[in-house]
Amino acid sequence: LSIPTIRQRKQDGVTADPVVMLTAYTARQAQLLDAHCDLLLCGDSLGQVIYGLPSSLQVTLDMMIAHGAAVVRGSYHAVVVVDLPFGTYERSPEQALTSAARVLAETGCTAVKLEGGAVMAETVAFLTQRGVPVMGHVGLTPQAVNTLGGYNARGRSEAEAKKIVSDAVALDQAGAFAIVIEGVVEPIAIEATKAVSCVTIGIGASNQCDGQVLVTEDMLGMFERVPRFVKRYEDIAETISGAAQRYATEVRTRAFPGVEQTYQPK
Ligand code: KIV
Ligand code: NA
Repeated sequence: LSIPTIRQRKQDGVTADPVVMLTAYTARQAQLLDAHCDLLLCGDSLGQVIYGLPSSLQVTLDMMIAHGAAVVRGSYHAVVVVDLPFGTYERSPEQALTSAARVLAETGCTAVKLEGGAVMAETVAFLTQRGVPVMGHVGLTPQAVNTLGGYNARGRSEAEAKKIVSDAVALDQAGAFAIVIEGVVEPIAIEATKAVSCVTIGIGASNQCDGQVLVTEDMLGMFERVPRFVKRYEDIAETISGAAQRYATEVRTRAFPGVEQTYQPK
């Protein structure tokens, strides 16, 4: 898959074949998800999911590059997108290109994602015109949690709703190949989707977006507390703690290692 093939999914405003995206942070995870996804996102959500950080604000470019490279190694089919972390692109288009060039060169990924609407349009155009495909991200933008005041759904007031739609349009006109719409009330997510020519990828938005994304660990049931928009397709937390419990019991009773796991001379 390539950026043009993802773009072509939306023809005259209609997406017959919705775009499937999941997050991946490791090589093996990417291998398992790859065949089922159009896009794999190495998101800065890895700060919370992998590193136990309180938010994505502490994530560095080096962390994104290390994990992005691992995801690329595990991907054969899906397009890999890597998040630009907080503080590595907002200052200027030049700063964004320096960061994006490192990400593309050092990971081998195809595109970067950055947060923000109209304020980032100039940067999106600058990157796109210089060979860096950009995915935008509007609505609930977690890197702005301190100015937004939390992780609540956006677009409930008329002013906020208007801004989300105009932000999406600005990114589309700047050349973004896709836009994540996160935590936005459904009618506004639909309006934004209709207003842009590129594909929108919803998370806590609407099934009428051109595609969907979830954090893989959320979807797998790794965490007790997840946002309302997450659907759990598995209970991996239970699977992992159950396996650890059985292992611990077998170590304590000397049932493990057994004959099959033990080397003998000759
Ligand atoms: O960091 C991330 O995982 C994301 C997705 C949830 C869109 O930005
Ligand atoms: Na992110």
